[in-house]
Amino acid sequence: MNLNKLKKSAAFAVLKYISLISVIGIGTGSTIKHLIKLLPNLKLKGVISSSSSSSFLLKKYKISELYLNDVLYLFLYIDGADEINMSLYMIKGGGAALTKEKIIATKAIKFICIIDEFKMVDTLGSFPLPVEIIPMAYKFVKFELQKLGYLTKLRKNFITENGNIILDIYNLSIKKPNLIEKKINSIPGVVTVGLFTYRKADLVFIGTMYGIKIIKDI
Ligand code: A5P
Repeated sequence: MNLNKLKKSAAFAVLKYISLISVIGIGTGSTIKHLIKLLPNLKLKGVISSSSSSSFLLKKYKISELYLNDVLYLFLYIDGADEINMSLYMIKGGGAALTKEKIIATKAIKFICIIDEFKMVDTLGSFPLPVEIIPMAYKFVKFELQKLGYLTKLRKNFITENGNIILDIYNLSIKKPNLIEKKINSIPGVVTVGLFTYRKADLVFIGTMYGIKIIKDI
């Protein structure tokens, strides 16, 4: 099974949805990398990036970068996911870009997620759930998460692009993702949790061994 091939096919399939748009937002990760390589074929005015690694690639492929504060309006955001369920709720942030990703995705009118078929799950939570935290609140937030029964682990020697730290929550089986997103986000010191339920995807392009499958939010 060539995972890379599936990611690439999902990135390729989304291209026709971008062809008439002048500014898009993009996420971070190996699937988005495939998409960035294809962007020079389009007539984009600019791209809003969610991480320095995506910005680096935009520069490499000579695509102009725009910034969220410079645009009044953003029609489309495209990103990968670490896990996604049939309600199109997601876990994101494996690459630690969750906060910028959530901001840009929420600003966008439409969010298309591009994934390989192995990202689809019945229940979210096998993938460790990232929580970005202000460093001075580390012990407090860890304790609050423990009180909720969560098993947390600090991402060692890691600082996010926003100057924060990440606690990953392990061994979850998330039955009510929107409640969990709200609960974790309400702990003071949490910048954001990597659950995307209030801003879920509108459309998912799934690269499968048998071709592209599309799921639409109803
Ligand atoms: C980055 O922080 C994540 O939210 C990515 O969107 C996610 O990890 C998907 O990455 P891949 O495309 O590499 O699987």
